[in-house]
Amino acid sequence: MTGETGHKLRGDYSGMHADYTVEQEWDRYSAEEHVLWRRLYARQAGLVEKYACPEFKETLARLDFHTGIPRFAVVNRMLESATRWQLVAVPGLVPDLVFFEHLANRRFPVTVWLREPEEFDYIVEPDIFHDFFGHVPMLFNPVFADYMQAYGRGGIKAHELGAIEMLARLYWYTVEFGLIESQGRLCPYGAGILSSGGEISYCVDSPDPNRIGFDLLRIMQTRYKIDTFQETYFVIRGFDELFRATEPDFTPFYAQLRGREAHAPSTVLASDRVHHRGANPIRRAS
Ligand code: PHE
Ligand code: CO
Repeated sequence: MTGETGHKLRGDYSGMHADYTVEQEWDRYSAEEHVLWRRLYARQAGLVEKYACPEFKETLARLDFHTGIPRFAVVNRMLESATRWQLVAVPGLVPDLVFFEHLANRRFPVTVWLREPEEFDYIVEPDIFHDFFGHVPMLFNPVFADYMQAYGRGGIKAHELGAIEMLARLYWYTVEFGLIESQGRLCPYGAGILSSGGEISYCVDSPDPNRIGFDLLRIMQTRYKIDTFQETYFVIRGFDELFRATEPDFTPFYAQLRGREAHAPSTVLASDRVHHRGANPIRRAS
C-alpha cells in the first residue's frame, strides 16, 4: 500500500478482511502506548476546551477517554444509540472506494496503531489519536453524522464519474479542516485541526491564513497542502448549511468544473465572502 504522497504506509495490511477491516486487539497495546495516549489526550483536551466548536466539546466531555487508548467496542455501544454509526478498525489508510463504502454504511474506519513519542506534535499519516480524538466526537452529532454518510454515497458516485479529486477537496476543507461560526466566533470542527497541537490555535488566532465563507463549487476547485498548516480555511454557519449545500446531485457540478484550472490554496477571489484575508503573502511565495 502507498499513500497519496507515494510513500510506503506503515500499518500491517496482512491478515485483514476484504473490506480492509481488522480486529482492534486492544490487549496488545503496551503500557507505554497508553501513557503516550494520555499525554496526547491531556494536552489536546486543554486546547479543545478553549478552541473547539461546542458540539465537539460536549461530546468529548461525555466520552472521557483520557485514561488510555479506547476500546472501539465500548464506543460503538454509545455511537449506536446516538447516531447508529459504528467504528471499524483498519490497518491505516484504505483505498478511496473502500473508505466510501464504509461511510455510506455508517461505518467509520479508525487506524489501530498509535504514533511514536517523537511524533507527539506532528504525524504524516493518520493514527488512532487523529482518527479517534479528531473524528469520533463529531459522529455523535446527528446532522454531521448524516453528512458523513451522504459523503460516502457521493464518493461512490464520484469514483464512477472520475471526480474524486474534486470531492476529496470538500472532505479536506470540511471534515478535516472546517471552521464553523458559532455565537459570533469561529471555531474548528475539522478533525485535522482538532487533533493538532499547533493548528487548533493557528486556524483562528493567526493573522496569516485566509478565512472564507463556505462555497461548495469554490472549494471543489481549490487545491490544498498536506504538509503545512492550511493557507485557507472555509467557514460554515451551521451543520445544516453544510448538509443542505451538499444535498444536490453533484454530477452537473463536476461537469461544470472539469478541465478548469484549480485555485491555489492561498488564493482569495473577488466573489469570496471574506471573514479574514491572510496577512502574510510572503510565506506563500513558493
Ligand atoms: N449530493 C452529493 C452528490 O450527488 C453527495 C454528497 C453529499 C457529497 C455530501 C458530499 C457530501 O454527489
Ligand atoms: Co482524518
